[in-house]
Amino acid sequence: MNLAGLPIADRAPSKPSGLEGVVVAETRLSHVDGERGELFIAGARAEQLALSDPGHFELVVERLWELAGAAPEPRLRERLAQARVAAFARIEQLDHALALPDAMDALLAATAQGCAGVDALSLLGALPVYVAASARLRAGHAPIAPDPARRTAADLMRMLGLPESPARARALDAYLITVSDHGLNASTFAARVVASTGSDAMPCVVAGLGALKGPLHGGAPGPVLDMLDATTHVEPRVWLEQELAEGRRIMGMGHRIYRVRDPRAFVFERALARLEAEEPANSAIAARLAHARRVEHAAETLLNERHPARPLRANVEFYTALLLEAVGIPRALFTAIFAVARCAGWLSHCEEQRRTGRLIRPAARYVGPVPD
Ligand code: COA
Repeated sequence: MNLAGLPIADRAPSKPSGLEGVVVAETRLSHVDGERGELFIAGARAEQLALSDPGHFELVVERLWELAGAAPEPRLRERLAQARVAAFARIEQLDHALALPDAMDALLAATAQGCAGVDALSLLGALPVYVAASARLRAGHAPIAPDPARRTAADLMRMLGLPESPARARALDAYLITVSDHGLNASTFAARVVASTGSDAMPCVVAGLGALKGPLHGGAPGPVLDMLDATTHVEPRVWLEQELAEGRRIMGMGHRIYRVRDPRAFVFERALARLEAEEPANSAIAARLAHARRVEHAAETLLNERHPARPLRANVEFYTALLLEAVGIPRALFTAIFAVARCAGWLSHCEEQRRTGRLIRPAARYVGPVPD
């Protein structure tokens, strides 16, 4: 059919699909069932991987890496620890990038500048160093050197200057594992597209970071905490109605794939309950959780009234906000901490994509002017 002859309104899709439901890759890394609310990561259920012992980020990285078809790395924990030490040795050259006022801009700039030509595991180890060093620099403090004897979660907390706490490190580990991979989400797709052109690790990760920064993807947990703060002394429904009336979305609600509550929200609730049991003095956790459940209920009811045909339930970001807050992470760093974990998924997907040898290159329907 000659599209050029049709009026533009007939040629344009009624609503851009955003590639919803389009399968563009095969993966062994993770599986998301949006109807049943199931998530498998590296061949295991997310909750099992995140909450059973020994639940360390390094373990899931190892499993993802092998499933992607990369050469097994028997000393992966040591490789990541050495990568942190090597990244720290380079941070003086990254002063300008690391001092950028936004944590994700700083991470993007430092990764682009500091990781050119490095291999995937060196890059994965560098990210927590950059996140922590830039947070310290922005707060006017000197960066803290990594301790290679620790695992990623505990070392990240230490480099951020947070107090030593095995219970909190365990909660952070549960978080890092749970968000390490999630099918072909926007940032993973972006990274895979770059890998499909034959590009190396750094540009793939920079593409992933760029996509993750947006509030429709990884940028929501900070605003979720703002929402919880804003509704502490007012009726949540009234506040939420005002947000919608002003044309804003409710952060932490809705998902492209899940039609039920995001299973990762359950994992984080359980990790929070465990942290609360291990730190009984931390009474703020229970109060925050109770308030979050009230806001979640109000948001779900309101969104259900407005979109009865489209279930909009709490997504991963809703309880991410609570978990990272309980661990002591400042809200300005939430998306950057997400990136530390998701980088494992990006790099594994890129490895998988390269093995297909196939360029990802979709098509667009032309709806522009036609020359005479
Ligand atoms: N608050 C208010 N309305 C929402 C909403 C939310 N959180 N999520 C979706 N909607 C509305 C949309 O405006 C749309 O309404 P319309 O049909 O009248 O235009 C309808 O629900 C369907 O949404 P759609 O845009 O098709 O969903 P999507 O699959 O493109 O979006 C998200 C998925 C995650 C981008 C979306 O739910 C969202 O913006 N959530 C808030 C941000 C967030 O939490 N991001 C983290 C994701 S893990």
